[in-house]
Amino acid sequence: MYLKKKTLITICILLYVYWIFHDAFHSPKDHSLTYFNERRETLKNTEIILQSQPKGSKVDKRYYDNPQPYEYDFKNLINEPVLCSQYEKVFLLYTVRTIYSHLDRRKVLRKIFQDIPYDSFSKDIVVKHVFLFANTNNYTTESLIREESRIYRDIIQDDFPESYGNVYLKTLMAWKWSVEFCANVEYVMVLNDELFVDQIKLLPFLHYDLSQADYDNKFAFCYCFGGRELMHNKLKKFRKLGEKMLYQGENYPIYCHGVGYIAHINVINKLYLASLKNKMLMPDDVWNGVLSEKLGIKQNCQNHRVQASKYFGSILKSYWKNPFLVAVCDHDNRPEAAVPCLQGIYKSVSKLRNNSNVHNRLQ
Ligand SMILES: *[C@@H]1O[C@H](CO)[C@@H](O)[C@H](O)[C@H]1NC(C)=O
Ligand SMILES: *[C@@H]1O[C@H](CO)[C@@H](O)[C@H](O)[C@H]1NC(C)=O
Repeated sequence: MYLKKKTLITICILLYVYWIFHDAFHSPKDHSLTYFNERRETLKNTEIILQSQPKGSKVDKRYYDNPQPYEYDFKNLINEPVLCSQYEKVFLLYTVRTIYSHLDRRKVLRKIFQDIPYDSFSKDIVVKHVFLFANTNNYTTESLIREESRIYRDIIQDDFPESYGNVYLKTLMAWKWSVEFCANVEYVMVLNDELFVDQIKLLPFLHYDLSQADYDNKFAFCYCFGGRELMHNKLKKFRKLGEKMLYQGENYPIYCHGVGYIAHINVINKLYLASLKNKMLMPDDVWNGVLSEKLGIKQNCQNHRVQASKYFGSILKSYWKNPFLVAVCDHDNRPEAAVPCLQGIYKSVSKLRNNSNVHNRLQ
């Protein structure tokens, strides 16, 4: 009797030990944590090299001669710490700059982000998105944001005032969050909520077109602007921020338009690290150009893949031949046009796909 009991206990202990080790070695979660942590360490310990001003540079000299350090230290109010780290790898992360009242835009974007093509590469990939909020300091709005966060679990909120002048902080927030909480991602897209993304075309583009690309030193997708005289000093929305917040000089460098760009996480990491040594100024996309030039990161302009949404009727006629990946739903300064435009393109594009043999096309 005594021996039997002892044997039973031993078996139980063995089983328990097996269970513990089995869990430690075989749980996919632990595996992904290892990959995540390794990549995060690498990103954190990256040494960035800021070059001296190249010939032909249009950046004002003062930003090479006298860079200002910066520390982003706003408290986090809402986070999704395991959104990425629960997976071994994430292929693409969208970080969307939005404000609370743009509920309807988020509704369309959430649908778009679920569109995964049927090709053999895409079937197992993970695509994630987060919406970036600041603090509205309005009790009602804040509780609505928390409610939306509870439902969709795709909101990140940091504690700086929600305002146009702080839109550059959302860019920093996008870079910082990607590096700290989504280190296991390949590509990051930073975008505004008025951008229609054709994800069915974008995912194969990132996979096939860029498989030979130099991930570390160029953007994956950039809508190139700049390279000419300053314009923002004529606009009231910038002027009222005050000179100290604004890029000074005579010319802009070439930069990726802030409406949306995509880069490998290594590039996002370099931009973030460089922004801590070169305090960001507005317009923040111009500053992205300054940082890129200092880092030697090439824009890789893809302007032929960007559509002005106003003309989407005609582009849809040749949809399958058209290389467009994104459409800008922000025209004539009419913010109210953005939702019908996003919805309109989304609907037309899904109809076209439903009516054609999209399954074969992408295989
Ligand atoms: C706070 O937000 C609510 C709805 O989001 C709005 O109706 C209200 O006017 C706002 N209050 C203030 C003081 O701005
Ligand atoms: C396309 O097909 C999907 C599923 O088959 C359906 O949910 C969607 O409503 C269709 N879209 C249009 C615009 O017909």
